Amino acid sequence: MSTTETHRAVAPDIVSAAFKADPLPACAHLRAEQPVARVSVPGVSGEAYLVTRYEDAAAVLRDERFVKDVRNARDPGNLRRPWVPGALKPLMHTMLDNDGAEHHRLRGLVRDTFAPRYVAQLEPRVQQVAGELLERMAAAGKADLVADYALLLPLTLISEILGVDERDRLRFRRWFNSLVAASALGSTSLRLLLKLPDILAMMRFLRRLVAERRERPRDDLVSRLAGAGEDGDRLTGNELLAMVALLLIAGYETTVNLIATGTLLLLTHPDELVRLRQDPELMGPAVEELLRLGSPVDVATERYAREDVEVAGVALPRGSLVLVGIVSANTDDARFEEPERLDLAREDHHHVAFGLGPHYCLGAPLARLEGRVAIGSLIRRFPDLRLTVPPEQLRWRAGVSLRGLVSLPVVC
Ligand code: HEM
Repeated sequence: MSTTETHRAVAPDIVSAAFKADPLPACAHLRAEQPVARVSVPGVSGEAYLVTRYEDAAAVLRDERFVKDVRNARDPGNLRRPWVPGALKPLMHTMLDNDGAEHHRLRGLVRDTFAPRYVAQLEPRVQQVAGELLERMAAAGKADLVADYALLLPLTLISEILGVDERDRLRFRRWFNSLVAASALGSTSLRLLLKLPDILAMMRFLRRLVAERRERPRDDLVSRLAGAGEDGDRLTGNELLAMVALLLIAGYETTVNLIATGTLLLLTHPDELVRLRQDPELMGPAVEELLRLGSPVDVATERYAREDVEVAGVALPRGSLVLVGIVSANTDDARFEEPERLDLAREDHHHVAFGLGPHYCLGAPLARLEGRVAIGSLIRRFPDLRLTVPPEQLRWRAGVSLRGLVSLPVVC
């Protein structure tokens, strides 16, 4: 097959629940046959190129010829961005949608808050939250590990950092979930339009939060950002809303999947679980391995070729929409030995679960801390933890970029 034919062959539906449940066979096939595969993504007109081999994935993530702001790659008449309701547009200007100096400016405003030194101080609080949630599970004797634990731990922590009150946290999640569900299902514009009440409620909440903290600052990140003007740099009203939404969403929607998928991997690999219980020192490397094989973000967010570029022998014209297959790169046998095997003592931690290059995950230290404490406390507290349904019956969430379970029923 010629290279051109190769990348034209039919690729899997990478947003489907079926792909999320079992991505490795499709990824292995793509790496062998279509290292740059054409895929379609809901809400995006035209096709996207999915990069599937580790070496190419790492190169694209680092390469500044692939930009995040479509305006840096396409002519004004040809932007063809996914349609979004007007009410959501204020949230579109984030560090994850910008390049160069603008990206640097936005990221710089919150860098210190998520730096390893600051995050390390949160460990006692993470332990306390985990402990409280585990006691509630113990009292019930059973749990949905996603809703009762994996979600609440990171949601509590990121909400406390930002300053989101308890009563608002799960409401925000409900609104955001309804958007994710709508955009995962194709015919996005209509479905998103039907979600307008949720979108408006979410925006009202964000505006109220920012206005309240501006008026009566507290010791939290939203208050600091709302007053950032005093120190020089200032966020516009919309930039502030967008920053809060990005941090809140990125701060729990990903880590919930590390904790829940990670627990599933342990429960379905009992020998590895025994090994981890016997050697708590293994917890750090174990989290890296669960990040690699679980890949909570399975496909990176979109990038655009700023100029004509060749990847794996495939010519990508200027303006092409390029997606990096993180789960595929993380399970590439050209990079990792026996990549489909869970090996908690694996020494190679060069996975790309947190991305690479300028947009490398800002929250990686926090996610690692939460993963280590959450999974470590869980397996210590419940020596007999087990699934109540066969793993094949578990349901996975459809959607762009995130890979996670709908629920994980366990007895403890
Ligand atoms: C296991 C948990 C997590 C995983 C797997 C994860 C994964 C990622 C990945 C792959 C990217 C890069 C996306 C791309 O280049 O297209 C990213 C970026 C980002 N993550 Fe995370 N993340 C996690 C937790 C968090 C947490 C807890 C926060 C809280 C602040 C966070 C905040 C961000 C932000 C703000 C960016 C954008 C950085 C930039 O554009 O410079 N993430 N994350």
